[in-house]
Amino acid sequence: MAQLSGQPRARFVEAMFAQIAGRYDLMNRLMTLGRDQGWRRFAASQVALPPGGRALDVGTGTGDLALALGREERTSLVVGLDFCQPMLAQGQAKVSLLEKNRVVFVLGDALRLPFGDDQFDGVTNAFTLRNVTSIPQAMLEMRRVAKPGGKVVCLEVCRPRRGVLRLCHHLYFYRLVPLLGRIVAGNPGAYSYLPNSATNFPAPVTLKTLMEEAGLRAVTYRLLSLGAVAVHTGTK
Ligand SMILES: C[S@@+](CC[C@H](N)C(=O)[O-])C[C@H]1O[C@@H](n2cnc3c(N)ncnc32)[C@H](O)[C@@H]1O
Repeated sequence: MAQLSGQPRARFVEAMFAQIAGRYDLMNRLMTLGRDQGWRRFAASQVALPPGGRALDVGTGTGDLALALGREERTSLVVGLDFCQPMLAQGQAKVSLLEKNRVVFVLGDALRLPFGDDQFDGVTNAFTLRNVTSIPQAMLEMRRVAKPGGKVVCLEVCRPRRGVLRLCHHLYFYRLVPLLGRIVAGNPGAYSYLPNSATNFPAPVTLKTLMEEAGLRAVTYRLLSLGAVAVHTGTK
């Protein structure tokens, strides 16, 4: 996997998520000790949609962030986009009456979004950027489809920088998570890929720069859960 890039890497990522789609949500709850949905709610609140606002969630997977956005009263439509159909099918099965007319799922590529310019009041992604083959290209695409003044919000894992927290994080992600993946998802490979993808992911300050280089302004970020994740927000 380490040597893969471009299309072969994208196909590898898609196939891996297809394999774990059925256990993805359960693994998320277990791995984060139930914190992940709170992180997504926080990310959704940072989008600050206007009344009747339309949002796009990129790499929506099983749709949890799209659904969090869909529950916000001001939302009129959320499009959840992913290139992995089995992940989207899990999301579709979770859409309740409340979000029925507000949340739709679309098969597509984050690096070539199938939308025109200036379409969405807010664009989000959660744990997606680690998996795309080009973060700058994904960022440019999210900025392109956002309306002027619209927000782009990114939720991603990060690694505590030093000390005991970093050691605990390392042991947890590199030892416990693959073990959980073996037991719960029956797929230790996928859950070894996960910490490795986080290892090479840019630090929060670097991601902020990448967002600025994509043309977003007023970029800020907030660390949550002792720096386990970061939520970046930028404005088009
Ligand atoms: C770790 S999951 C995150 C899912 C969801 N956002 C969440 O909060 O749990 C990453 C998702 O990104 C999707 N993905 C990765 N690269 C993509 C691309 N180029 N285009 C669309 N989806 C992509 C994968 O299929 C997967 O569903």
